[in-house]
Amino acid sequence: LIIYGPLITPLSKRDALFSDCSLVAVSAQGLIEWVEHSVEPEQLQDLLAKHGRSTEDQDTQFVELKWGEWIMPGFVDTHTHAPQFQNNGAGAQYELLDWLTHVTFPEEEKYADVEYAKKMYRRVVRASLDLGTTMCCWYGTLHLEGTKVLADIAHELGQRAYIGKCNMNRESAPTYQEASAEDSLRDTLSFISHVEALSPSPSGALVQPILTPRFAISCTSDLLQGLGEIAKQHPHLPIQTHISENSSEIAYTKGLFPHCSTYAEVYDYYGLLRENTILAHGVHLEQSELDLIKSRGAGLSHCPTSNFNLRSGSAHVGEWLDNGNKCGLGTDCSGGWTASMITAMQLASVCSKVVSYYTKGDDASITGRFSKTQFAKYQLPIPTLLWLATMGGAEVCCLQDTIGSLEPGKQFDAIRVSVLPETDNMHIWYDESDSLESMLERFMANADERNVMEVWVKGRKVGGKLLK
Ligand code: GUN
Ligand code: ZN
Repeated sequence: LIIYGPLITPLSKRDALFSDCSLVAVSAQGLIEWVEHSVEPEQLQDLLAKHGRSTEDQDTQFVELKWGEWIMPGFVDTHTHAPQFQNNGAGAQYELLDWLTHVTFPEEEKYADVEYAKKMYRRVVRASLDLGTTMCCWYGTLHLEGTKVLADIAHELGQRAYIGKCNMNRESAPTYQEASAEDSLRDTLSFISHVEALSPSPSGALVQPILTPRFAISCTSDLLQGLGEIAKQHPHLPIQTHISENSSEIAYTKGLFPHCSTYAEVYDYYGLLRENTILAHGVHLEQSELDLIKSRGAGLSHCPTSNFNLRSGSAHVGEWLDNGNKCGLGTDCSGGWTASMITAMQLASVCSKVVSYYTKGDDASITGRFSKTQFAKYQLPIPTLLWLATMGGAEVCCLQDTIGSLEPGKQFDAIRVSVLPETDNMHIWYDESDSLESMLERFMANADERNVMEVWVKGRKVGGKLLK
């Protein structure tokens, strides 16, 4: 695969490369072999020849992009729930704990039926891929068989994914709760074996298992302890859970774990806070918790769509970035109403504007932004939003050497997008004289699956409008 045209890729938390004309070569194994920037049309054939390639090669697909289109890294969704898509856009009259009881758990219970899981999960993974999410951290339900189906489908459709069978043995209806810690741990081990058997070499596999204690409230002490032991025996096994999403949840958690003084300490106490741990939300984290999370190397998943929808609060992401915490974005369906990482970027922007208004109050706009080296109290710049949705997420998943940016040596997880009128998205206004940065800003505000033309994971085309 060779692609010629505009390219956007993050360079750092504050900067991105906006290249009007790049040439990218992808190997048959899905690796980015080399990238050349500022390539004029008349240099094209010579440059290809220099690398021993040609647009005429039999086994090479050559893609030429128009102005108004570009490639960029695929999105990394660091937190979402596959069995809740049916509820997207519903139930937001509740806040977290009541919402779980009345809206979420009744839907998740249906996944005891494997046929229901097969029907729904295929649509769910398809939707996620077509929105440009090339790597996704999925929660399944507590059901072993249903969650195996989710892993099988992600594997078949070609998404890169961490898939977790939920652990939960208390504080929900008896019909949606595991009978004991032993049952939960046994099914978890069986799930891990199933996912690892999907690929010939588990370490390089696109689909991997992830330990998934739902959240501290759902797990008894002996379950958390057992999960901590599994984690110790499998140092490379990632872990995902929720933390400090909502004030009532935090108070309830502290009541259940009086031997820990903060929410983050609960996970740390049971050996579940480490470099490959992904903590969703963190809206109300205290400074000591941010420091503990940082010292363990764990990452945070900012889920603004959900945090606004369930009235959980506005996370101080600028402070996390200044503090050196790893951070990516998550869609958290159906806490959030959409699986779109484009919407997540837009709402991360809005969230940072809200926080900057209340913490600073005066001008926190673009003019102030460039005189500062800090993020806190300012709205997040466009390149930072892109970073969070791609490279930041890759760091949170400990995949920073494999994906997250378009650089030689990385795997080609990328999307081809368009803001041209032919996409039939009447909300995006395109002008030929716009810069790539301006186009990206408009894309963040108004793009959806109509604007995602092609989606590749490790060089394989797995989604987008042009897949059909
Ligand atoms: N905390 C525990 N379970 C959930 C869930 O399913 N969604 C969200 N947003 N928070 C949770
Ligand atoms: Zn969640």
